[in-house]
Amino acid sequence: MSRIEKLTVTGLRNLADVAIELSSRVNIFHGENGSGKTSLLEAIHLLSSGRSFRSAKLDPLITHGLEEAVVFTQLSDGLRIGLAKSRRRRHQLRLQEETQRNWESVARSLPLQTIDSTAFQLLEGGPKARRRFLDWGVFHVEHGFLSAWRDSKKSLANRNALLKAPRLDKPQLEAWDREFVAASVKVDAHRSAYLERFLPVFDEVYTQLEGSHLGTLEIRYDRGWAEGSALHDELRRTLDTDRRYGSTQLGPQRADLLLLLDRTPAADVLSRGQQKILVSALKIAQGRLLSESLGIDCLYLIDDLPSELDPENRARVFATLLSLNAQLFVTCVELESLLLAKEGELFSALAPSEIAQFHVEHGRITA
Ligand SMILES: Nc1ncnc2c1ncn2[C@@H]1O[C@H](COP(=O)(O)OP(=O)(O)OP(=O)(O)O)[C@@H](O)[C@H]1O
Ligand SMILES: [Mg+2]
Repeated sequence: MSRIEKLTVTGLRNLADVAIELSSRVNIFHGENGSGKTSLLEAIHLLSSGRSFRSAKLDPLITHGLEEAVVFTQLSDGLRIGLAKSRRRRHQLRLQEETQRNWESVARSLPLQTIDSTAFQLLEGGPKARRRFLDWGVFHVEHGFLSAWRDSKKSLANRNALLKAPRLDKPQLEAWDREFVAASVKVDAHRSAYLERFLPVFDEVYTQLEGSHLGTLEIRYDRGWAEGSALHDELRRTLDTDRRYGSTQLGPQRADLLLLLDRTPAADVLSRGQQKILVSALKIAQGRLLSESLGIDCLYLIDDLPSELDPENRARVFATLLSLNAQLFVTCVELESLLLAKEGELFSALAPSEIAQFHVEHGRITA
């Protein structure tokens, strides 16, 4: 079970020199706007995945005038993970003392979910965010997915390069098509198998959050090419279009999850708070499935939990998160907005020692 015990951050946004020891259950960070709360969550996210959840570029994360940001953590199972992200050099990622070539082992050691203001992208944005959401679960739960996904990406890149060439090399295209189809069918099978396990868990969580009174939510999986058709035939059929675009229009790189309420996209009918409940349900369900299927608890970063939610819903989301038994990192501007929800009842299931409160001020964090 991965829990963060110690965390140090230097040179990341306004966090100059942070060193904190964390509770294995609930960690609350409160402070004024611009004090550094989201930056702290960003540091953990960066360590776990190599990405930020709020900006695509990593350069803006490094403190102005500094060359590198460093994040280090020690987990409860003794694992140590360190990341140095510099402006000019390639990043350095270490698990124990070993340099990592990619994020696979670190991501498996430190699975995390984020609920923040960009989480609405899951409903409002393009398919990419939803594929990423889906693949997070498939990666953790379905072994064999990662290698199929990598094979599919590699053959797709080669196929697209051939499509862009002035003269089409047909034998080469046939060869890459075979590889692409074989890998893509596996990717789809893993995604479908995961969803079959995910959907009942999601229904339970969504009911717990009382989202279900909004209507029946349907999650429909679009695998990226027509059901009932072989991808190989579809690629032949669309070859002229693919040549025109210089890229492959069908395949698992186009997969999507459609979230529908009475056949209408959920984003078009739900209020902001209702959207937050739905997004929370999706993410909590993934954590619950991970813990039920592999016995691994995922860690939750919840930025500005109170925003958009009325006290009832705030309490419900928080209680559902607590029921996961996961380690939580929660930020808010005013501590009272959390503590006063339901007269402090929220924390009644926890011993005082299980809650750590931190005050964030001008990039400094104190317990
Ligand atoms: N590269 C950088 N170098 C130095 N400071 C930065 C950098 N990028 C952002 N900042 C500053 O870091 C501060 C912390 O931002 P952060 O988003 O973490 O605040 P916050 O506590 O989450 O605030 P809010 O309550 O408004 O969400 C801000 O003042 C921001 O302007
Ligand atoms: Mg913030």
